[in-house]
Amino acid sequence: MYKIAVIPGDGTGGEVVREGLKVLEAAAQACGFRYDTTTYDFGGDRYLRTGETLPDSALEELRGFDAIYLGAIGHPDVPPGPLEVGILLRARFGLDQYINLRPVKLYPNVDCPLKDKGPEDIDFVVVRENTEGLYSGMGGVQYKGTPQEVSTQIHCTTRFGAERAIRYAFELTRKRNKMKQLHLVAKTNVLTYVHDTWWRAFCEVGDADYPEIRREYAHVDACCMWFVKNPEWFDVIVVDNMFGDIITDLGAMIQGGMGVAAGGNINPQGVSMFEPIGGSAPKYTGQNVICPMAAIAAAQMMLDVIGEEEAADRVEKAMIKALGSGKIKSLAAGRMGMSTSEVGDLVASLV
Ligand code: IPM
Ligand code: MG
Repeated sequence: MYKIAVIPGDGTGGEVVREGLKVLEAAAQACGFRYDTTTYDFGGDRYLRTGETLPDSALEELRGFDAIYLGAIGHPDVPPGPLEVGILLRARFGLDQYINLRPVKLYPNVDCPLKDKGPEDIDFVVVRENTEGLYSGMGGVQYKGTPQEVSTQIHCTTRFGAERAIRYAFELTRKRNKMKQLHLVAKTNVLTYVHDTWWRAFCEVGDADYPEIRREYAHVDACCMWFVKNPEWFDVIVVDNMFGDIITDLGAMIQGGMGVAAGGNINPQGVSMFEPIGGSAPKYTGQNVICPMAAIAAAQMMLDVIGEEEAADRVEKAMIKALGSGKIKSLAAGRMGMSTSEVGDLVASLV
């Protein structure tokens, strides 16, 4: 019996999570496992009402679950910062979800904006470090609002943090057994301290424990270029938090957009959290027009990580069949030719 915490969050989060849960239920019935969900109302509305983001008690409670399933965080009436930092980053850091795993996989029949590239060219995984770097929250502001204002935001890198992400990525590369190739994406020519730590960890860990894995390196700007020009060059990528944030939005676009891109915030020793990587899409809220495929893909990753691999496999095949059915016209919000719930029904019926 799995215990799953559900945080629908803001905007269209609830609409897509509902469809993901529908598919989860179909998978449970097909594969014969059981689970129990507990829903939490953390998000912009609760924050506006009570000033609360993710209270200490909730963080402690979340540790008791097998997985967390999250919709989206971000509210039009809340300025940037408090919700993202107070809920999303707090969960990631507080639960030590040190890997943000983001597959970039183009499924058949999904529109790709790249000319002459198809599913055989776009199938890689980004391993984004998820607890350090520019996201650490270190730094501050002095003399705010005066001409002398000074602010810093520190790129906090630890050898420990870089190395555990790198080790995870090497293991994943081995497990995928595809090109047996791991890219480090960084900016060693400019970030000569922090990315030198990454570079040495990458080489030392690779030499010592993963001699069969080919190591490649790309500067982050060049990586953006290759994503568009030669995405087939990538197998697994390991990258720091900030650059990982940026390149995975680009990755999402080449796999068909935010309608299909999912991610897992992974603590291999603890509780992990799965989410569609797009935002809360306030302008589509309540219209039942947003694509739930990313949330379904997040549920699929969740199944895989909790150990229900067969169920995960069925869900992925169901997504592929649904996309191949020709019934879904586009993955863009409002242009699917179907409603959010109809897409969920379709995938669930194919599991
Ligand atoms: C993501 C998002 C978050 C991030 C935001 C909402 C804080 O962009 O999950 O990629 O920067 O990590
Ligand atoms: Mg992002």
